[in-house]
Amino acid sequence: MPKLAIRGGTPVRTTPFPSVGDASGRTVGAEEEKLVREVLSSGRLNRGAGPKVAELESCFASYMGVPHCVASTSGTAAIHVAVGAVNPEPGDEIITGPITDMGTVIPVLLQNAIPVFADLERSRLGLDPADVERRITDRTRAIIPVHLMGIPTDLEPILALARKHGLAVIEDCSQAYGTLYRGKPVGTWGDLGTFSLQQSKHITCGDGGMTITSDARLGDRAALFANKGWPNYGHGGRDYVCFGVNYRMTELQAAVALAQVTKLPGVVDRRVELGISITRALADLPELYIPPVADGDRHTYWYLAILVDQRALGVTTSTLADAISREGVPCGAHYIGKPIFLYDLLRSKRIYGTSDYPFCLQPADRAVRYEPGETPETERILDDLILVSINERMTDRDRDDIIEGIRKVMAHIEELRG
Ligand SMILES: Cc1ncc(COP(=O)(O)O)c(C=O)c1O
Repeated sequence: MPKLAIRGGTPVRTTPFPSVGDASGRTVGAEEEKLVREVLSSGRLNRGAGPKVAELESCFASYMGVPHCVASTSGTAAIHVAVGAVNPEPGDEIITGPITDMGTVIPVLLQNAIPVFADLERSRLGLDPADVERRITDRTRAIIPVHLMGIPTDLEPILALARKHGLAVIEDCSQAYGTLYRGKPVGTWGDLGTFSLQQSKHITCGDGGMTITSDARLGDRAALFANKGWPNYGHGGRDYVCFGVNYRMTELQAAVALAQVTKLPGVVDRRVELGISITRALADLPELYIPPVADGDRHTYWYLAILVDQRALGVTTSTLADAISREGVPCGAHYIGKPIFLYDLLRSKRIYGTSDYPFCLQPADRAVRYEPGETPETERILDDLILVSINERMTDRDRDDIIEGIRKVMAHIEELRG
């Protein structure tokens, strides 16, 4: 049997895989260039002046099957637009999951609300409804489920809790374009859904975001919030009807994003094909747990998430990921490393200057805790998690190399023990 690369053997793969960090792993090409040139030659670069942002919004809304979409400058902005539309009171609590980008949490703080973190469950890496319920108080205003890695969160129990307690649901779909839950797209189950167009996402314009909703009132508020509270992008007079930010996407970003949205079905199909075939090819390895995809659901593989039974394997996740990477297969361990509330920004509770605002708005005996052990299953998930890169430009040969690299390491697992 060939020696492991980590032990000096020849790697399964010696040439780079297509990467989402550059053109090799992206679908950006002639279509984007044509639309960008149109914008440049028109000289209409701002959304109030040109048609492209509005076209993007209507194109993405129709792809998602909803009437309202507001484009903005990032996935973080898209979540801020959603939170701004919901308009919590200062000191209200918003529940989300501890494995996410800080972009899910910052908008909550910007609206002077308090992020509360509920534990996750490992079959979907989604919010654990029982723990969400435990954390609901009379100050809870909204829940933000994050569909991690392209896997749909089990939304029904979350939506039932939201209905019971009168809470808004904002789905963070930054990593979940095209993902279906019970046959229906994520982002359309809750009150609002948000998407990111950052470089590494299924589609990109460098940075950008989109907020969708089926609720006309929330749609109006979202549009106002992204435009300084100013209706109609300046046409028809100046007015500021509510608080807001300038998160307007430019026509240049929209030109790229518009071409990208038309490619989304193909991107999603290829990722699904790759994800399913790699999952099948690893199915006989019991130490690797790949969250199963339920009937009617579609996982769209932002990454392929694998949970490793470290005890059964006798090898740490870091060692395993390192061995797989050394075979030339793009792969990493532990994702964000620790629950997001353990990063200093949150743990210190110092957001605005030296004040403890907005945390001081909570009664002292009910202060939110950002401490180790608060979400034990999340800590275990992060310990056990391996992410394998997938992108739509990967060929069947790339897929086969990924499978061969992982299988080679698993076949040599004895050598990695002890
Ligand atoms: C789950 C999640 N939420 C929010 C964000 C924030 O998006 P952006 O980086 O576009 O601001 C990201 C992206 O990094 C993300 O993965």
